[in-house]
Amino acid sequence: MQIPVRFLPTLTVAPETFVIRQAVGEGLGPVVASVNSMVIRGPEPVIVDTGMAISRDSWLEHVFELVDPADVRWVYLSHDDEDHTGALFEVLERCPAATLVTNMFAIVRMSANGLVPLDRVRIVNPGESFVAGDRDLVALVPPTYDSPTTRGLYDSATGVYWAADSFAMETSRVVDDIDDLPPGEFRDALLHTQRMLSPWVRLTDPEKYRTHLATVRDVHPAVAAGAHGPALFGQQVESAFLLFEELPYLPPADLVSQSDFELLLAALAAPQPS
Ligand SMILES: [Fe+2]
Ligand SMILES: [Fe+2]
Repeated sequence: MQIPVRFLPTLTVAPETFVIRQAVGEGLGPVVASVNSMVIRGPEPVIVDTGMAISRDSWLEHVFELVDPADVRWVYLSHDDEDHTGALFEVLERCPAATLVTNMFAIVRMSANGLVPLDRVRIVNPGESFVAGDRDLVALVPPTYDSPTTRGLYDSATGVYWAADSFAMETSRVVDDIDDLPPGEFRDALLHTQRMLSPWVRLTDPEKYRTHLATVRDVHPAVAAGAHGPALFGQQVESAFLLFEELPYLPPADLVSQSDFELLLAALAAPQPS
């Protein structure tokens, strides 16, 4: 059985800034997941994360509809998880002018799948930046994360923050704007998915966690676009930060139990309406 993956129309979140969107698992359960990546066009185009191996060919088509491979100057990896590195080696092969921006621990962790070309790497650590043509891009650790290598990316030209896995939410249906969700779903979905992603937050001191949140909050992103949920715009970003503040006080997220799982299997085995 193959998990269903559907490409959604590419979303423009700011001038020359595009989110490549995939809906994953539609129809398998009560929620749908997203796997997104981003392209920044400009004098020195940037690909931000590289999708999943299971949909690599379609992902490459979507990206190279936006930018010519020969023009790509930077590939930014938010972290080394497989849903962000699916087409990494193909991108580096097809974009010979591209430099890979990442960190040393990510290189080490990815080496199980092969060593990236070290002579094409730029190391950027938290708080550091690089210049991509007409813009400074700053690596900022997001509010929540599931890998020690995770760094989001703040674009000073547009105010877009690429949040890696943070700001993730599994929703009851695909939406372009969280304001289209039923009342209460934004809160429930965001808090649940953050706790799944970063169960460690409940072990943190709330004051220290608030200081960590300020890393991104204090740049006042105009847009927070992440790999696993709808992009947030304007006041929606601050609404998410208010929810993040609750995380240290909350119990662990409810997990799928064996009986839940058996219900899911029965639903999958039932005849589908035609
Ligand atoms: Fe991750
Ligand atoms: Fe992810």
